[in-house]
Amino acid sequence: MTISFRAAHDDIPLFRRAELPDGARACFNEPHVPPLEGLAEAIAAEIPHLNEYGSRLEGALANIARAHRRAPDEVLLGSGSMDLIRALIGSVCEPGDEVVFSWLTFEGYVGACHAHAATPVKVATMSDGSHDVDALLAAITDRTRVVLLASPNNPSGRALTRDQLDRLLAEVPPHVVLALDEAYSEFSSSPRAAYAADLFGSADPNLPDNVVVLRTLSKAAALASLRVGYALATPDVIDGLSKMRTQNGVDRLAVAAAEFCFTDRGLEQIEDRAWWIKAERQRIERTLRDRMERAEIDDRPHIDIPHSDGNFVWLPVGERADDLRRHLVDTAGIVPRAYTGAGVRYTVIEPEHNDRFIDAVTEWATG
Ligand SMILES: Cc1ncc(COP(=O)(O)O)c(C=O)c1O
Repeated sequence: MTISFRAAHDDIPLFRRAELPDGARACFNEPHVPPLEGLAEAIAAEIPHLNEYGSRLEGALANIARAHRRAPDEVLLGSGSMDLIRALIGSVCEPGDEVVFSWLTFEGYVGACHAHAATPVKVATMSDGSHDVDALLAAITDRTRVVLLASPNNPSGRALTRDQLDRLLAEVPPHVVLALDEAYSEFSSSPRAAYAADLFGSADPNLPDNVVVLRTLSKAAALASLRVGYALATPDVIDGLSKMRTQNGVDRLAVAAAEFCFTDRGLEQIEDRAWWIKAERQRIERTLRDRMERAEIDDRPHIDIPHSDGNFVWLPVGERADDLRRHLVDTAGIVPRAYTGAGVRYTVIEPEHNDRFIDAVTEWATG
């Protein structure tokens, strides 16, 4: 190669989907459900206009704003929430400025920092994978421009509690952006969990200037392939972020899909599906917990089964993560995601695969 990449390039892993083994895909946190009823028609209506740049955004922005009880100029669409996270870092970070986030978390944050020559600052989560708010606040320096937190966190599934959220809102300095990535919030069942989009949509009419809420249609709305997410922030911040995005970067099929998802017909279906996934996640966790308790009573080996608020189950098996993944691929034909040295994340999919997952984990952990 005759050109050289920036040094930060070496820190971004190359993603090769083709290397996945055969088996049921439970590694990307994609819901297994088909597209919403009515969605195909909404998208098809746009096909005659695919020759045109961009599309009218008014309907989508109005519907999203209505769902969150915000104004349309407080909403920005992105090509997935990842696009908006990159736009945010690119908008506020000069080279070398710091972005603070928990670790483990969604690895996309690291690439987003490197794309803009920002410095990622990783703060260890608590042992249960929840955010360590004291440590996050202590990590803020003069160079910090963004504190970026996934709630529920990926891969632990732990969500910020109302107390933690209140503290962050009160104590992150006003010149630092508090970015709350709520990609999995629709699957949350913890009574103590709190989400910024709900907080500012119902209780407090004023969005603080330094808060950016990120949501996606890739998870609960099952539209990962269309690449559409959105940010909620003050109109000035929305304008600032939009400068960093590719013009017309959300295609008109995705815009039409977003508009449809936030109609009453779309929202009802999304809620139904999210409820099903929540119930199924709880069934998997409860069944595994029961089996582990029985193994413990019988003096057999067993593992902890923590609670997750995402559309996935997290098994913090530490150094044995790669071994558990191999076991699930080889014996159950299931491909979960292993985090070497930390644990295995399994996306809730069809019940027959979930049952095979439960049996294979039980055999591996208690045998
Ligand atoms: C926490 C978190 N945020 C954001 C994303 C990216 O979502 P999108 O498809 O909207 O870019 C993911 C994807 O898995 C994620 O886990």
